[in-house]
Amino acid sequence: MSEKASLGGVFEIGKSFEVHRLGYGAMQLTGPGVWGEPADRSNAVAVVKEAVSLGIDFIDTADSYGPDVSESIIHDALHPYPSALKIATKAGLVRTGPNQWHPVGRPEYLRQEAEMSLRRLGIERIDLFQLHRIDPKVDLAEQVGLLADLQREGKIDRIGLSEVTVSEIEAASKYAKIDTVQNLYNLANRRYEDVVEYCTANYIGFIPWFPIQTGALAEGSGLLGKIAAELGATAAQVALAWLLRRSPVILPIPGTSSISHLRENAGAGEVELTDEQFELLKGLAKL
Ligand SMILES: NC(=O)c1ccc[n+]([C@@H]2O[C@H](COP(=O)([O-])OP(=O)(O)OC[C@H]3O[C@@H](n4cnc5c(N)ncnc54)[C@H](OP(=O)(O)O)[C@@H]3O)[C@@H](O)[C@H]2O)c1
Repeated sequence: MSEKASLGGVFEIGKSFEVHRLGYGAMQLTGPGVWGEPADRSNAVAVVKEAVSLGIDFIDTADSYGPDVSESIIHDALHPYPSALKIATKAGLVRTGPNQWHPVGRPEYLRQEAEMSLRRLGIERIDLFQLHRIDPKVDLAEQVGLLADLQREGKIDRIGLSEVTVSEIEAASKYAKIDTVQNLYNLANRRYEDVVEYCTANYIGFIPWFPIQTGALAEGSGLLGKIAAELGATAAQVALAWLLRRSPVILPIPGTSSISHLRENAGAGEVELTDEQFELLKGLAKL
């Protein structure tokens, strides 16, 4: 068994458990538009099994992926789970069709989502439960307060937020300890640079979604392609290696439905950028 993913280093989430920083995002396991079953379910199961055999011990999912499909594939691939595996799921979005997402943060709904994720995943406690979006129609105190209640009850271990500003993290922190933040961030889109800085200063895990810009960064045109060639790596690996180097609290979760892409991405921990390459790549984003 090659444990490639371990080469990206480790991070301790909420002083509770340690994971390899290079994880896997399980959103691509579903049908098109993150809706319904994939065309080839046995391939999806094989991808998840392969992630673990590559040393990945941090898998990100959500009840809304499918809905339910991604969590159920993870269960079928891995249950009973290896003890080192940590699964992060999310609540707070409902789906009305392919590519349609709407925030619903009423506490009774968030509680139902936690209960259903526990049942689907076949576990007694969710390792990391993330509020997928803050619902602007519901008091933040009620939404985050419900997560704190679930934590006190032992149904979830750590609490995360998604797509939030620094002031929202600070506001939410009045009601619960926030251990991770999952925001859109990659080499080409660094709009949340201030959130990365805040998370780094406060040892909050920062989970960048779209880490290879939904595949666009894997094309490796221009400077990215040039640096990838210099390093003997692929462009996707360089994009991930840049994130690993950007801050010790960054936990990239590249998504894929392909075993060969999964293996390639897991190799990013072996890629070491020089200081000059790191700085040059910084210039790719329009901030
Ligand atoms: N919190 C949020 O609001 C939020 C939003 C979106 C996503 N997420 C999470 O973030 C994870 C990552 O985001 P993502 O999966 O949308 O985007 P991503 O990781 O940036 O890119 C995934 C896309 O890139 C392709 N790809 C992956 N590796 C590749 C490689 N080595 N070479 C060429 N193409 C490659 C995949 O296609 P193939 O399947 O063909 O490999 C897929 O289409 C998701 O899985 C999900 O867990 C969270």
